[in-house]
Amino acid sequence: SFDVEARQSGITVTVAPHQTIAQALIDAGVDLLTSCEQGVCGTCATAVLEGEPDHRDQYLNRMEHASGKIMTPCVSRCKGARLVLDI
Ligand code: FES
Repeated sequence: SFDVEARQSGITVTVAPHQTIAQALIDAGVDLLTSCEQGVCGTCATAVLEGEPDHRDQYLNRMEHASGKIMTPCVSRCKGARLVLDI
């Protein structure tokens, strides 16, 4: 598991292996919009403030993935122990 902080919302969640970042955040009350929940539509795309995303989507392009500045919390995860998102 790893922690994700939704900085604007002032909420930090621990994401278990069986759940998505999006689900953990929404369950905790973060106002994150999702649609496809399969990493293809981009609805959930969120800016990354700290930490390294583990990209699993097909929406962002190679340069966006490499930048580490944006991620799709419906499918993507975290390479380290903690991710801070701008939401
Ligand atoms: Fe479609 Fe995340 S909800 S990419």
